[in-house]
Amino acid sequence: MSYLSSKPSAALSGKIIAPGDKSISHRSLILGALASGKTRISGILMGQDVLNTAKAMQAFGADISQNGDIWEVQGLGPLGLQEPSDFIDFGNAGTGVRLTMGVSGSFPIKAFYTGDSSLRGRPMARILDPLAQMGVRYEMRAGGLLPCVVIGTDNVTPITYFSDKGSAQVKSAILLCGLRADGVTTVIEAKPSRDHTENMLRGFGVDVEVQDMADGRHASVRGKASLTACDVAVPGDPSSAAFLVVAALIIEGSDITIENVMMNPLRAGIFTTLIEMGADLTIYNERVVAGEKIADLRARHSALKGIVVPPERAPSMIDEYPILAIAAAFATGETVMEGIGELRVKESDRIRMTFDGLIANGVEAEEGAESLRVMGKSGAKPKGGASVTTHGDHRIAMSFLILGMASQSGVKVDEAEMIGTSFPNFVQMMTGMGGEFS
Ligand code: S3P
Repeated sequence: MSYLSSKPSAALSGKIIAPGDKSISHRSLILGALASGKTRISGILMGQDVLNTAKAMQAFGADISQNGDIWEVQGLGPLGLQEPSDFIDFGNAGTGVRLTMGVSGSFPIKAFYTGDSSLRGRPMARILDPLAQMGVRYEMRAGGLLPCVVIGTDNVTPITYFSDKGSAQVKSAILLCGLRADGVTTVIEAKPSRDHTENMLRGFGVDVEVQDMADGRHASVRGKASLTACDVAVPGDPSSAAFLVVAALIIEGSDITIENVMMNPLRAGIFTTLIEMGADLTIYNERVVAGEKIADLRARHSALKGIVVPPERAPSMIDEYPILAIAAAFATGETVMEGIGELRVKESDRIRMTFDGLIANGVEAEEGAESLRVMGKSGAKPKGGASVTTHGDHRIAMSFLILGMASQSGVKVDEAEMIGTSFPNFVQMMTGMGGEFS
């Protein structure tokens, strides 16, 4: 276990390029492995989660190599996924394991899955129950937990599935399994989640339909699909950019620019929220690259005010609540975050971890079953000085290191190595802009 401490920081400045998006990186490897031909991926995130998905695709028979900055995936095409000869260990990667279970379930092979202690504590029935309706069999540990074995089928039943979770992982596992069904598979989401699977499947030549109806957003794939390899340009990750933006907003005198940030509306809720809080955040140079909206962001130190975050916005900023809570600690007034129950089943119980870390560092907060309320300090520096237990959660670690940078005495976090799952050069980027760590 490695500890890392942030020190109170002077103004941050500089221009950086956002690291590759984790969601799109996972999907580029998975879809590349399913496709006929060679998929070339540029800008992939070299985080541990993504590397675990790459290893998993190799275990199913895909040939993955690196050619300079480009990753190449020689897909399995009509041959299909092959039975792995060993357990597949996804480490910390929830997206990796859940999407892969959907894919492997659509081939007549057995695959055994496990992960680290965090992943082994996260719910898998939300994926495996709908897959069972599609004809996939499985055994998992009591409580719906990993390790599990997924016994796939050559005869996938197309289903229409209603999901009230706003989870792209649930939607994607079902749609990916439906690629080999005889018929159309539909997921209806009351709260639409990120749509990268749908957009990228189209890029690989699959017939995907998305429609907004009275009961929610319907996403459908036509089965017996064949995927054709394509080039994927991975845009910058808005979830990683959010950490840098908030650091600049709360550290006096800061002025930073982050280039190449994906602004997909189903991912950009954090930026809308920060602007509502009064953030001096300029979104400019907007363009479309490989079907995704991209922009550059300029963030400057700002006087923030507390707001009520609309609960229906949660899916579009689900990974950003811990860092939003840090921004809220510097605002004038209360920030209320409701409808965020899903945070309890992320890499850690993020409502609890955020609440505990705030209290330990001198910020008042209130925890509810599905909510968090943060009482802002009106720009005054929180005491800091605490040692935060992250439970191996990369986003909790980065959030509290940033709180420490803007506090009176810094913050120490444990399991700092987990930052490498999603943002391997976090410390390097922050140091380059003026942050100090020990
Ligand atoms: C992801 C979906 C989200 C998010 C995760 C990445 C994805 O999870 O928290 O970091 O790439 O599909 P849920 O779909 O479970 O909300």
